[in-house]
Amino acid sequence: MADLSVIEKALVSVPASQATLELLRDLHTQALTEPPYVSTDNEHESAVLDKFVALDPDKCALVYLLLRATGARFVVEAGTSFGVSTIYLALAVGQNAALLDAPGKVIATENEHTKAIRARQHWKRAGDEVEKWIELREGDLRETLKTNLPESIDFLLLDIWSVLAMPTLAVVKPHLRKGALVVVDNIIAGRTGYADLMEHFADPRNGFRSTTAPYAGGLHIVVYVGTEGV
Ligand SMILES: C[S@@+](CC[C@H](N)C(=O)[O-])C[C@H]1O[C@@H](n2cnc3c(N)ncnc32)[C@H](O)[C@@H]1O
Repeated sequence: MADLSVIEKALVSVPASQATLELLRDLHTQALTEPPYVSTDNEHESAVLDKFVALDPDKCALVYLLLRATGARFVVEAGTSFGVSTIYLALAVGQNAALLDAPGKVIATENEHTKAIRARQHWKRAGDEVEKWIELREGDLRETLKTNLPESIDFLLLDIWSVLAMPTLAVVKPHLRKGALVVVDNIIAGRTGYADLMEHFADPRNGFRSTTAPYAGGLHIVVYVGTEGV
């Protein structure tokens, strides 16, 4: 049986309205009680149409804290599903932007229209502290991220079928600022599909430095240091 106590442990680090915290409790509970799914390739997509496949609460809290620590205001999320992790991204971006009275945006991506509808419903329930910071791009992210990306991106969350991770990075990388973070879920559990991505991160000439944190399935945390002088 799923250990639901992880939800409260995560939420304690995340300042948000009671309505948003209640929504997150509800969504995490649904996500944690569905059968687990780890992608190794892009097959069986129809099999997960009705599933959250959401980022675990402890990983969501870490991502929120990383965004706050780095003051991230421009974020890309590869793989949005029903929009659970996106809520954390939007809270952090909104709070960082408010501190500076500056703009901010989370670009969310989802291929499946039915999932996009559910995500939008969830963000609406959370209201302005979440909804107004999100631009959802529907369709294949290899196309939807090709244009109109912010000049400088602070954070990329790769929570996508593993074989799509490297093509996504290729599109976003030219926009990553020095010091930008990339977080990749299930790097150990999905290592076959992530082979090209891991090879790219492992070569210092590509400008990344990374480590795997011991969260379930392995959470890869990557810093873009740039390619000059490496
Ligand atoms: C692991 S789930 C994302 C979970 C989400 N980050 C969360 O925590 O709630 C990955 C999502 O990527 C979507 N996806 C798969 N291929 C895609 C593509 N080519 N373009 C955009 N989204 C895609 C899937 O439909 C699925 O909902």
